[in-house]
Amino acid sequence: MPTDEILGHADEADGIEEYDNALPGWWLGLFAITIVLGVAYAIHWFGTDQSQTAIYEAEVAAAEQQWPTPDANAPIATDAASVDAGKAVYDQNCVACHGADMTGGIGPDLTDAEWVHGGTIEEIRATVTDGVPEKGMLAWGAILGPDKVAKVSAYVHAGGGGL
Ligand code: HEC
Repeated sequence: MPTDEILGHADEADGIEEYDNALPGWWLGLFAITIVLGVAYAIHWFGTDQSQTAIYEAEVAAAEQQWPTPDANAPIATDAASVDAGKAVYDQNCVACHGADMTGGIGPDLTDAEWVHGGTIEEIRATVTDGVPEKGMLAWGAILGPDKVAKVSAYVHAGGGGL
């Protein structure tokens, strides 16, 4: 192919003349390498799923390992330390309505053996978790989390009226 012929479209290109020479070998070589690398990277990317979704899911799984979501149905510990921890939760969140001694006020007495929603430790946990919104008792599950709810349930249950 001749290398000294001007293509002759300077009139379309602001007077810029152009030859139709082959690209240099080193340039074509680099171009070929980018294609090979691109294909290799695509195979690697899809083969090992490097997508943001996969990375996110892997991180969430690792976090779940490290900080497991507390189980809302885990057995409730009733040892003295748990009940004490439950008292701290009660004093902070429940006193205003159920009284410092749990004998009630805005909310009902929790020390007698009369229960609207049941007085077993599991029933207490269910009431505290889901609340009775129409009566002004909040759904504490979402506010305190399963662990604190279990502890405060143990405390309420131990408070005298537990069935
Ligand atoms: C804003 C006031 C208020 C606060 C704060 C509150 N409660 Fe209540 N609670 C109530 C009311 C009102 C009821 C009665 C619901 C009904 O009659 O159905 C109730 C009911 C209950 C019951 C069921 C009693 C039964 O007889 O079955 C339990 C258990 C209970 N609360 C525990 C707690 C605990 C534990 C906390 C703190 C985490 C708390 N409450 C905080 C107002 C409150």
